[in-house]
Amino acid sequence: MLLTTRNLTKHFGGVAAIQGLDFQVDALETRAVIGPNGAGKTTLLRLIMGELTPTRGEIFLNGQPIHHLPSHRIARLGIAKAFQIPQIFPSLTVAQNVQAGVGHGLASLWLNGGRQAQIRERVAQVLDQIHLADKADLPASELAHGEQKRLEIGLALAQSPQLLLLDEPTAGLSHAETDEIMQLIRSLQGKTTLVMVEHDMRVVMSLADTISVLHFGQLLAQGTPQEIRANPKVQEIYLSQHG
Ligand SMILES: Nc1ncnc2c1ncn2[C@@H]1O[C@H](COP(=O)(O)OP(=O)(O)OP(=O)(O)O)[C@@H](O)[C@H]1O
Ligand SMILES: [Mg+2]
Repeated sequence: MLLTTRNLTKHFGGVAAIQGLDFQVDALETRAVIGPNGAGKTTLLRLIMGELTPTRGEIFLNGQPIHHLPSHRIARLGIAKAFQIPQIFPSLTVAQNVQAGVGHGLASLWLNGGRQAQIRERVAQVLDQIHLADKADLPASELAHGEQKRLEIGLALAQSPQLLLLDEPTAGLSHAETDEIMQLIRSLQGKTTLVMVEHDMRVVMSLADTISVLHFGQLLAQGTPQEIRANPKVQEIYLSQHG
């Protein structure tokens, strides 16, 4: 297992956002995490990333405990994220943004200054991957919403993570912009382990190997897209939320 949580629990005051969760992700799979608003999806990703400390329980990456580490240490172990709040640098160019992401992963190279060509090459690779090579020299603030989202994922990819966490990568995007994100995710599948929180069922059903359904901070169901679609408990929580 690449990632394992054991009895993971997070309380916010009286709210149990994650309750005794045992969650496992295999290397190189694409996992979707779905569930109603407030189910604990974002909290789970923030716990994995080290942005939140568990109230109880443990998180392991490749068998090593990481739940006591600060997020910059977790980033160095190869977990990267693109969360709902955009974290790009609007006044820098697209290429400079990606370079900042690379720099994050290769801080030592920056300090000894000797590997500029290697960094430039990595930036070019990522720009190709996120289909923004033609906009490399534009300020990030001038990108369309869907392009900014791709850039944000690019910043995470620049660190060459072994595990990429995505929180609602298509939220607020048009159908066409969503297609572009789906294409980007497809290009990563089988190369990087992906854990993606997503509300758009078209995205979830077409990309996920396995879907985990969270409900009140617990695992309500887990299975293939076909199994989850046919699961009466899952249908019930979605029907009760939407109607
Ligand atoms: N920093 C926080 N402080 C207090 N309560 C929080 C905090 N973060 C989350 N919560 C609460 O924890 C619960 C789970 O929230 P979380 O954001 O993880 O849900 P979610 O599944 O991501 O929902 P959504 O689909 O709306 O994004 C909610 O009741 C939320 O109000
Ligand atoms: Mg959320």
